[in-house]
Amino acid sequence: MRIKTFEEYQVAYKQSVDDPEGFWAEVAQQFQWRKPWKKVLSWDFHEANVKWFEGGVMNITENALDRHLAERGNQPAIIWEPNNPEDQAVSISYNVLYDRVCRFANVLKKHGVKKGDRVCIYLPMVPELTVAVLSCARIGAIHSVVFGGFSAKSIADRINDAACTMVITSDGAFRGSKVIPMKETVDAALDQCDTVKNVIVMTRTRTPVSMLKGRDHWWEEEVKHVDSNCPAEPMDAEDTLFILYTSGSTGKPKGVVHTCGGYMVYASYTFANVFQYQPGDIHFCTADIGWITGHSYIVYGPLCNGATSVVFEGIPTYPDAGRFWQIVERHKVNIIYTAPTAIRSLMSYGLDYVKKYDLSSLKTLGSVGEPINEEAWHWFKDNIGGGTCPLVDTWWQTENGGIMISPLAGITPEKPTFATLPLPGIQPVLVDENGKEIEGNGVSGNLCVKFPWPGIIRTTYGDHERCKQTYFSTYPGMYFTGDGCMRDEDGYYRITGRVDDVLNVSGHRIGTAEVENAINMHLGVVESAVVGYAHDIKGQGIYAYVITEEIPDDPDMFRKDIAATVSRIIGPIAKPDKVQFVTGLPKTRSGKIMRRILRKISEGDVNNLGDISTLLDPTVVEDIKKGAY
Ligand code: PRX
Repeated sequence: MRIKTFEEYQVAYKQSVDDPEGFWAEVAQQFQWRKPWKKVLSWDFHEANVKWFEGGVMNITENALDRHLAERGNQPAIIWEPNNPEDQAVSISYNVLYDRVCRFANVLKKHGVKKGDRVCIYLPMVPELTVAVLSCARIGAIHSVVFGGFSAKSIADRINDAACTMVITSDGAFRGSKVIPMKETVDAALDQCDTVKNVIVMTRTRTPVSMLKGRDHWWEEEVKHVDSNCPAEPMDAEDTLFILYTSGSTGKPKGVVHTCGGYMVYASYTFANVFQYQPGDIHFCTADIGWITGHSYIVYGPLCNGATSVVFEGIPTYPDAGRFWQIVERHKVNIIYTAPTAIRSLMSYGLDYVKKYDLSSLKTLGSVGEPINEEAWHWFKDNIGGGTCPLVDTWWQTENGGIMISPLAGITPEKPTFATLPLPGIQPVLVDENGKEIEGNGVSGNLCVKFPWPGIIRTTYGDHERCKQTYFSTYPGMYFTGDGCMRDEDGYYRITGRVDDVLNVSGHRIGTAEVENAINMHLGVVESAVVGYAHDIKGQGIYAYVITEEIPDDPDMFRKDIAATVSRIIGPIAKPDKVQFVTGLPKTRSGKIMRRILRKISEGDVNNLGDISTLLDPTVVEDIKKGAY
């Protein structure tokens, strides 16, 4: 399963294309299955149907926990680094994690949660988040983790879409110097949800919270009264493991569905190979478990490999910009996996924060979430990796389950700003506007994948048609990623960014339509159009053009009010960075907003707007260029 040389990579890649079923069956055999699968793969991209290891019976927690107890029961599974560096870090061994998961799984059962039920998890980065996720998996309940920065309305939308029957949350969260309410936000969400019967509340900040008799229960009390034995629920490989909501170019966020067997195999295989994990390595992924990166590379990938995974509660700049490096030194981290936005932000504080710490334990650096610019790539490689640690720029998406295009650390070549080569099993293609494959090297196009891999999205929860439309209809017969990409003369891939109306702000995926809908809900707003613009730290910033009923008396205050509404409707991550009030928007005769023009104006490229003759009213462009008011 482990690739150790470039030649082995080439052999594995070829085998994965010539005989994908044989290739993945061999990988999958290394896991623990209760019953072997009957069929490795069946697929039909036209109907968006893919099944891996059908008929196989397993439980991912037996692979993430039980399997390791005999050999490494006392090894830390998780090292928890709290928000405040003066508080003691907590090390949780595989034995203890197993015990906590079994107990909490029994708490879920006691409250009537069964296989197939949906459980919403809204927690800060505390060990209980990992425990909650694995406890759901233990009993076959489907977890839907919602990132702790989302608003009550976003939580409610997700709970209602999946008809969750339980929510797991905390009283509050520590985030840098702030204390953030969690339960209060869940309470506001639950005013809009009928399906939730029980809420389990973990104590973190011990801020006052309302606890409703019959519905709300304290985590710490609940776990006192349950058995520590909880046999894992037998799951078919194609039973749903989790739902994770992500933004697209239209409508509300959709629930990406991943299933047990294929996801386990893919997240684990990619973890081991991309980072070249060695037994005993300490792995620090700085993402939040509320995103797919945390699911695959804090929880499931590392634990299925028996690794030690660092869970960090805080933020990179608290109490100062040396926090990541302090954690590396403190826990002798071997692999650090972070995002370009964090690197760019930390770069701006200077090297003094880096030099204070001993980073010699590091062996591998990883980047994910957005294109990494050359300057950030070199800064990371030279100053954090001492110029010698391999740096893997990993491209993938929520819908992919695991890393798709990336170097294998120290094994396959690196090229700054390039995700480089596809992993075994991944068959990328570039297509032109008409869906025609662009062959050869030194070319650019829209990135598709023409063959399934075990971690591919199975459906969008409750709406299979939407899955078909979003990913499999633009270029029939292929999975469309929504990304633009170039393949250079050497056949290396470089992701250039989204080609649809999806923004990537600090590595977070945000739909322009979602932000527009939120802005349009603000009193006095007639219409809005949102585009991304190049932002030094965030990668992309959010630029909103807003038409108001009347010219605002105090435009700055109005801007702040709009930001407050967006924060309330979606969450602070979606707040516009810039709001320009305009009297009209550039629309085609059929009413479609020409974002291409707005993007150029937002980047200050006003003399190069291209053809505007198809606009219903070309004069609006002049007004926008002037900055109407
Ligand atoms: O545009 C690509 C960008 O992030 C998108 C996926 O976002 P999400 O589903 O939130 O998952 C993020 C983490 C897996 C992609 O469509 N993206 C992700 N990684 C890279 C990237 N763009 C360039 N280079 C990357 N390494």
